[in-house]
Amino acid sequence: MKIKSFAPGKIILFGEHSVVHNRPAIAVAINRGVNVELSSREDNIVHVNVPVIDYEAEHELTNSKLNYVIDSQKKMITDYIYEAINLFELDKGFNITVDINMYLGAGLGSSAAVTVSTLKAVSLYANKDLSKDKIAKMARSIEIKIQGAASPIDTSMSTYGGIIYIDNEFRLERLNVNMQLPLIVSNCQISGNTGKLVESVRQKYEKYPKIVGHIFDAMENIANDAKTALEEGNGDVIGDYMNINQGLLDSIGVNTLELSDMLYKIRSYGASGSKLTGSGGGGCIIAYTPENIDEIYDKISAEYPTFKCELSNNGVEASITDDK
Ligand code: MEV
Repeated sequence: MKIKSFAPGKIILFGEHSVVHNRPAIAVAINRGVNVELSSREDNIVHVNVPVIDYEAEHELTNSKLNYVIDSQKKMITDYIYEAINLFELDKGFNITVDINMYLGAGLGSSAAVTVSTLKAVSLYANKDLSKDKIAKMARSIEIKIQGAASPIDTSMSTYGGIIYIDNEFRLERLNVNMQLPLIVSNCQISGNTGKLVESVRQKYEKYPKIVGHIFDAMENIANDAKTALEEGNGDVIGDYMNINQGLLDSIGVNTLELSDMLYKIRSYGASGSKLTGSGGGGCIIAYTPENIDEIYDKISAEYPTFKCELSNNGVEASITDDK
């Protein structure tokens, strides 16, 4: 038996940082993510292969489980895979390859996509066809166990796909969007420290409550107007909203010289708008490129690791490709 699964990564289109202060945000599942391929074995060995980090290991199933304990200090991407496998009772071993077709630790939800895609493939192997609600719940509990804390955004995006509006009470609402959303994601290859950046913004808010409060309010207006624009299929304003949101993110101190350089370059190459995505301080930029995406991609990818992507509507998917 061969099972293939895919779970998307995500970008934050609007509202990072302000969302921490009860303002809305918009997250988009992208058609880049994590492909898992699982093939059955006749013995009780589980062979795990993660090509992007050159990882290969074998573990034995004893009493239907793997004898694997996570190291709380290291927080390895493989922890998510083993935790997902060990939620099931497994009679027979398998080979599993986890292909991460996105950047790790760059704010794109790679750990959630790894977890969700692995859960989907292994659950089918264990003869359990879980609902998406169940997968999202299990994935979030794995993220909490490994990371100590996790918002439901990443695991929801990887499970359900689509575009999600996070309202100011942190409820997630799936938007009905029928327009294309051609995007470019470029990685500056320096990781921002989310915890430190969130704390620095909190301190700025405490020091300048009126000014920073109004910046959050402006971010809120952008997210709300963008929600309407997306629902109405009005792409004309998206680029402007991104550029304005970027200016506001700069003003609260989460931008960097390198990110700025990338953002202005990609605008000069023809992107209709660009901004950092996630916590900033490094990580990735996103650009909205309704026109000339290939030319813009060629130019920016000559300088930075880059991919083109689109909205992924379906969330996690799997197929049993060779059922012998
Ligand atoms: C990080 O991807 C987004 C932040 O808004 C933090 C968070 O919402 O947890 C900066």
